[in-house]
Amino acid sequence: MLILGIESSCDETGVALVEAAGDAMPRLVSHALHSQTAMHAAYGGVVPELASRDHIRRVLPLTQAVLSESGRELAEVDTVAFTRGPGLAGALLVGAGVACALAAALGKPVLGVHHLEGHLLSPFLSEDPPEFPFVALLVSGGHTQLMRVSGVGRYELLGETIDDAAGEAFDKCAKLMGLPYPGGPWLAKLAAEGDPAAFRLPRPLLHNGDLDFSFAGLKTAVLTQARKLGDALESRKADLAASTQAAIVEVLLKKSLRALDGAGLDRLVVAGGVGANLELRRQLNAECASRGIRVHYPELHLCTDNGAMIAMAAAMRLQANVESASERYAFDVRPRWPLDALQAPAL
Ligand code: KG4
Ligand code: ZN
Repeated sequence: MLILGIESSCDETGVALVEAAGDAMPRLVSHALHSQTAMHAAYGGVVPELASRDHIRRVLPLTQAVLSESGRELAEVDTVAFTRGPGLAGALLVGAGVACALAAALGKPVLGVHHLEGHLLSPFLSEDPPEFPFVALLVSGGHTQLMRVSGVGRYELLGETIDDAAGEAFDKCAKLMGLPYPGGPWLAKLAAEGDPAAFRLPRPLLHNGDLDFSFAGLKTAVLTQARKLGDALESRKADLAASTQAAIVEVLLKKSLRALDGAGLDRLVVAGGVGANLELRRQLNAECASRGIRVHYPELHLCTDNGAMIAMAAAMRLQANVESASERYAFDVRPRWPLDALQAPAL
């Protein structure tokens, strides 16, 4: 079974082919990606209308690139998968429209995939895939969630952010330090040269006993600190970046460990763009190794948005019989769509 996956929920256009045979783990055949970050950088953030227009320009050439790289024909595709949500409505409609048009022309079915389920299952594309059940820390630009994952489509929300997501905190703090968009990777790079203990920043909700997060207060504290520094900010920027990253990483680390304790599990999966943060990985690896906990990540280049995770999530849903692909080419996207609304039927 050959699955073509199309991702277009935000500012990356991703296309991939994944092949599934029998019960074996589906494998990535090829993928291609175009990032719009350079285009949006001039505006300091994603401009939805420009994002949609660029997806339109990129999606078919990327599809052709994926097919020619793999030596496969479009007619060999069995199912066309696309990101149905959550994301920017116009951007989602591009992927959904193209997926439905290709599938209708081929006489093949489509499958709309939840973007966060794509992130969640992306570690199954790695050399060292996890086994169910596990605790997942989903840390993307728009979401910060801890989930108990007992199988494909079996997701229980344990805690989430009550305001900003971790990626958003990285991006907003980077912006007020004058770093380019998207701020997360820039802030992380600068942090490597700074002292994480230089500024004492708040660790919101760290000791409240539950698994929820809050990062809006951290952003305010960083803004206050930057204002206090005034002209001295330039020379202390690396220290402020390192202290900001340390605050975010400590909260993510401690809440993940608490979730594992509470769920009685010894396997953690980290997914989403912030999962590319090397300091987060370093601290999680060290802490989990000392407690006998296995941690799984997607490969670094598959942490941020891509088509491979969408094709993979579709393949795993089909393989697990959680859903079947449909020939109703309705491209009804869902810009807002909670992941735990995806519940598979009870066993
Ligand atoms: O999962 P993703 O690509 O998009 C969404 O679905 O939102 O995540 C993007 C987020 C952005 O906030 C970006 O700044 C952050 O992931 N990010 C990072 C790093 N790489 C990407 N944050 C911290 N350190 C990084 N190395
Ligand atoms: Zn994402």
